[in-house]
Amino acid sequence: MTSATPVNPFYAARRHRIATTHHDKPAGPVYARLPQAPRNASPVPHLTSLYHFDRAGEYGDRSYPGNCGGNLIRDLLLYFRPEGPIFDPMSGSGTCRDVCDELGLPCVSGDIHQGFDACDPDGFPTEKFAFIWAHPPYWRQKSYALDPRDLSRAPTLEEFLSRYGQFLRNCAGALTPGGKLAVLMGDYCDHEAGFLPLVYHTKRLAFEAGLVQHCTDVVRFSHGASSSRKVYRTAFIPGLHDTLVVLERPA
Ligand SMILES: C[S@@+](CC[C@H](N)C(=O)[O-])C[C@H]1O[C@@H](n2cnc3c(N)ncnc32)[C@H](O)[C@@H]1O
Repeated sequence: MTSATPVNPFYAARRHRIATTHHDKPAGPVYARLPQAPRNASPVPHLTSLYHFDRAGEYGDRSYPGNCGGNLIRDLLLYFRPEGPIFDPMSGSGTCRDVCDELGLPCVSGDIHQGFDACDPDGFPTEKFAFIWAHPPYWRQKSYALDPRDLSRAPTLEEFLSRYGQFLRNCAGALTPGGKLAVLMGDYCDHEAGFLPLVYHTKRLAFEAGLVQHCTDVVRFSHGASSSRKVYRTAFIPGLHDTLVVLERPA
């Protein structure tokens, strides 16, 4: 015989308090203590695996869908100090070019909006680059152009990954030996396909293209994301970051 567990009024009240405090609190910034980074010879000591800064910098157009802050690109260029021009094959509002202009570095860039298809196996410049900045669409999380070659228009995940793989092979082929490819990518939950581990696929496809990972992932806090201001009826664990993967063409 089983008997109903008596309700402990203390725990009932506490449960109620937890439920109301967590749900009724107005949204606002939360301050977290970051681990201390070891001192080292880096020319950019604040560039660690946690890119938490909330200032995007005055680069590109913040109203462009998928615009990323330029400060991370600036810190990467100051850290790696690549020789020769920087290449941004999916330039959007021109954030990377603006950073390069500020640093006095030459920049080659293109975007599907200008008719340049970075996923075309024969479409890349013949020039080799010591540093490529890539910020591709996170499949169809946002759509960019009406052009069917736009990666965000890929009708299935398989097709997206196939064209994305070609893009990464193009990048691998355009690097100098020892050259770096910095890819900013995010995982997200698609309304039909479910959770998409796109950072995993980035690494998998890049390794298949002959690249190796150069250093730690950089977790970039998503300050200012439009989704942060939305209210959802369903429960989920919000993703508040995207991930920068730095890949290298072996020398
Ligand atoms: C995440 S956005 C880049 C935003 C950019 N980092 C900025 O700060 O403005 C992705 C870009 O990839 C471009 N794109 C999509 N498919 C492409 C393709 N096949 N070839 C070249 N560019 C493409 C889109 O037009 C869009 O501008």
